[in-house]
Amino acid sequence: MKISSFEEYHQVYKHSVEQPEEFWAGIADNFHWRKKWDNVLSWNFKEPNVKWFEGAKLNITENCLDRHLDALGDKPAIIWEPNDPTEDHRILTYKQLHDKVCQFANVLKNNGVKKGDRICIYMPMLPELAIAVLACARIGAIHSVVFGGFSAQSIADRIKDAECALVITADGGFRGTKDLPLKSVIDDALVQCPSVKRVIVLTRSRTPVSMIKGRDVWWEDEIKKVETQGNPECPVEEMDAEDMLFILYTSGSTGKPKGVVHTCGGYMVYAGYTFANTFQYNPGDVYFCTADIGWITGHSYIVYGPLSQGATTLIFEGIPTYPDAGRFWDIVDKYKVNILYTAPTAIRSLMSFGLDPLKDKDLSSIKVLGSVGEPINEEAWHWFDDHIGHNKAPIVDTWWQTENGGHMITPIAGITPTKPGYATLPLPGIQPVLVDENGKEIEGNGVSGNLCIKFPWPGILRTTYGDHERGRQTYFATYENMYFTGDGCLRDEDGYYKITGRVDDVLNVSGHRIGTAEVENAINMHSSVVESAVVGYPHDIKGQGVYAFVVSPGQHGDAELNKKDIIMTVQRIIGPIAKPDKIQFVSGLPKTRSGKIMRRILRKIAEGDTSNLGDTSTLLDPSVVEEIKAGAL
Ligand code: PRX
Repeated sequence: MKISSFEEYHQVYKHSVEQPEEFWAGIADNFHWRKKWDNVLSWNFKEPNVKWFEGAKLNITENCLDRHLDALGDKPAIIWEPNDPTEDHRILTYKQLHDKVCQFANVLKNNGVKKGDRICIYMPMLPELAIAVLACARIGAIHSVVFGGFSAQSIADRIKDAECALVITADGGFRGTKDLPLKSVIDDALVQCPSVKRVIVLTRSRTPVSMIKGRDVWWEDEIKKVETQGNPECPVEEMDAEDMLFILYTSGSTGKPKGVVHTCGGYMVYAGYTFANTFQYNPGDVYFCTADIGWITGHSYIVYGPLSQGATTLIFEGIPTYPDAGRFWDIVDKYKVNILYTAPTAIRSLMSFGLDPLKDKDLSSIKVLGSVGEPINEEAWHWFDDHIGHNKAPIVDTWWQTENGGHMITPIAGITPTKPGYATLPLPGIQPVLVDENGKEIEGNGVSGNLCIKFPWPGILRTTYGDHERGRQTYFATYENMYFTGDGCLRDEDGYYKITGRVDDVLNVSGHRIGTAEVENAINMHSSVVESAVVGYPHDIKGQGVYAFVVSPGQHGDAELNKKDIIMTVQRIIGPIAKPDKIQFVSGLPKTRSGKIMRRILRKIAEGDTSNLGDTSTLLDPSVVEEIKAGAL
């Protein structure tokens, strides 16, 4: 399954485009199926309707756990590093992880969970988070993991959309110096969620929590019950390849977040194949992905991809700067990490501390470095290369999205020659095209356009939960017969791809995807606000910052206090990750005569580039632009 030379990459790529079904069937043969497929692929991008490995039966946890037990049973599956470096770390072998997943799967069954039920998981970065995810998959329940940085309201929206029956959480969690009151946030969310009949609470921080009779139970007590029942095994639920595996919510340019749906067979094959190839994982390597399991990167490249390949995956509970900015390097040194996969925002943040935190840290174990989530600027790329990889570890700049399930355009470590800031070439099976605004394919090299994919791959989203039409509109309606990524991209003279950023109203703040409309809706909930417009601006560490222009005539108290109130409102409605960095009060927004906000002008002002705002003559009231320019932050 692993490509071993650049020449082989070209051959495999050609085969994957000319004979996609034969190619993917060959890859899928490397996994364990209870029954093989009747048909490799049927698809159209019109409805859309994509099915991979139809008729096949499998369970992804059998691939991630059971099939490794003979050869790797005593090898570490998960290494867990706590937030506080003085607390003991934990190692779970494949056998131990298997047993714990079976145990917790039985807990879920005891609590009435059946195949097809939706389960919301809101947990800190502990092995139990991976165990909860895998336990759902083992019995065919559909997990919807919500990142710990989302508010009660965001959780409630997601629980209601998926009609979850059960929530798995912890009393609290630790991140840096912060204690996160997870159960209490869940309690606030559940006021709105009658579908939830049961909450399972893991002990982590042992912060006081309200345990509601008949609804809330402790994880540990439930495990004890399973132990006394004396049944450590949990047979897997046999799943159809196209049965849902999970829902993961992500932001778009309009309205509320969408529930991206991935299915069992195709997702497993794609996460496993891309993990093995991009990182060139070798048996025994220690692999550390710094993402949170609450994002797709954590799903595919902390849990499912690595475990399906029998890898050792490191889960870190904390943050890169606690107790100091040398924490990642301590972890690399302590566990002799071979592959480190992180985000440009973390690299830029660590760069700002200089080289002191790297002193006396042995990073010689590192063989491969990875980047994900946002464009990596050349300075950060070189710093990563020089100071972390010592110019010996290839950097894989992996471009992909929640909707893709796994890496799409990326170097293969040590095989694809890299270029700073470039995601380089498509993986086998991926057919990228650049299109102009009319949907016409732009051929040749040295060109740029909107990035689309013209043929399905096994990890493509199948639908958006509960609203198929919305998914069609978002991804398949802009350009005929193509999946539209929302990203702008250039293809240079060598045919190498460089992602230039979103072309829609989606921000990428510290690698987190945030819809401007979502933030505006939250700001507009504040009692003194009439309307608002949110745009991104370049931010040294976060990549993009959130700049809000707010019309707020009825202010209560001074302007600075009002800004804080607005920030608090956003925090309550969405969560701390969407907080505006800058708020400018304005008397009106620049609008066309038809009432459309001219974001182009606001973007330029937010970027600090007011020299050439282009044509403002179509504005209803051009004077408003002068006022906004004068008050720009
Ligand atoms: O704009 C691209 C950016 O992140 C978006 C996808 O966000 P999300 O679904 O949250 O997934 C993030 C992790 C896979 C893309 O549309 N993006 C992701 N990776 C890169 C990137 N932009 C540039 N270079 C990348 N390597």
